Amino acid sequence: MRKCILALAAAVSLAGAAQAQTYPQRPINMVVPFAAGGPTDIVARMVAENMSKTLGQQIVVENVAGAGGTTGITRASQAKPDGYTIMMGHMGTHGAAPALYANLKYDPTKDFEPVGMAAGTPILIVTKKNFPAKDLKEMIAYLKANPDKVNQAHAGIGAVSHMTCILFNSQIGVKPTAVPYSGTGPALNDLVSGQVDYMCDQIVNLVSQIKAGSIKAMAIAMPERSPALPDVPTTKEAGMPEYEVTAWNAIFAPKDTPKEIVTALSAALDKALDDAPTKARLLELGAVLPTKAERGGDWLGGFVKKEVARWTPVLKDASK
Ligand code: MLT
Repeated sequence: MRKCILALAAAVSLAGAAQAQTYPQRPINMVVPFAAGGPTDIVARMVAENMSKTLGQQIVVENVAGAGGTTGITRASQAKPDGYTIMMGHMGTHGAAPALYANLKYDPTKDFEPVGMAAGTPILIVTKKNFPAKDLKEMIAYLKANPDKVNQAHAGIGAVSHMTCILFNSQIGVKPTAVPYSGTGPALNDLVSGQVDYMCDQIVNLVSQIKAGSIKAMAIAMPERSPALPDVPTTKEAGMPEYEVTAWNAIFAPKDTPKEIVTALSAALDKALDDAPTKARLLELGAVLPTKAERGGDWLGGFVKKEVARWTPVLKDASK
C-alpha cells in the first residue's frame, strides 16, 4: 500500500514537472477581484503586460468584483491549479477578510501558492473638491460636527478602502454613512462628481485626479511624503501621526499549482518589477516597489501570515 502511495506521489510530481516544462501553452487568466480602472486593476495590468512578454503568452485580466474582493478570490482559489488561473490579491482580500467575514470560503494562509509581491500602495485620505475643509484638522472637525451629513465611499466590506477607513473613523470617533462600490475606480468617479464626500484609497488610483485638482488630498498615511505627490502632507505633518498605513497588492495561484509553474510566474513578476518602463510607470503613480528581499513566493507566504495576525485584532476592535 505504502509503495502504491509513493509511486502515485512520484507520478503526480513527474506530471507536474512535465507540465511546467512546457508552461505556458495558452493565455493565463488573472482574476482582479475589483472593478476595472481601480488600484488593483492598475497594478495588475502594469505587471501583467511585462510578464506576458517574458512568459510568451498573454495574461488576460478578468475583473470579478463583489464582497470586498472576496467573490473573485474565492472563485480563483477554486480554479484548477494548473497555472492558467492566477489572481491579484491585496491587503484586504488576504489580510483583512478573515476578521470581517465569519464564513470566508478561503484561508489566505493555506489555500494559495504565493507568487510574489507586486506593489505597496500608500493610503491617502481624499475628499470631494468642494468639501468644506482645507486640511485634515478641519476635515476631522467637520466630520465630528456633521455625523448625519457626510458619507464615505468604499469598495465593499474588507476592501482596503473599507478597512483603512474603519481604522481612520475609529481613531477620530466617527461613524459616517458608508456607500459601497464594486471598486474604488467607480467610487473615485463619484468622488470627482461630488456624489460622495470622502474615502481612504490607494495612491495609484489617485495621483492624476489630485494633480488635476478634481479631488482634495488631506494627507498621505506614510512616514515620509511620496515623491509622486510631494505637495501632500503626511498624516504626521497633518496632526494624526497614529494613522499610518500602506496597502499592498500581490499575485497568488490556487493551492497545489505545481511548484515549477509558481517559480516561472515569480521569475516573470520579478523581471517585470526590474523592467525600467514598468517600474517608471508604477513609481509615477506612487507605488512602492518590493525590495529584492521582499520578492518571491516564500517571502509573500510569511508576510500574509503576519498580516492576518496583525489585522485581525485591530479590525475586530475598530469595527465594534
Ligand atoms: C480596487 O481595485 O478597487 C481596490 O483595490 C479596492 C479596495 O480594496 O479598496
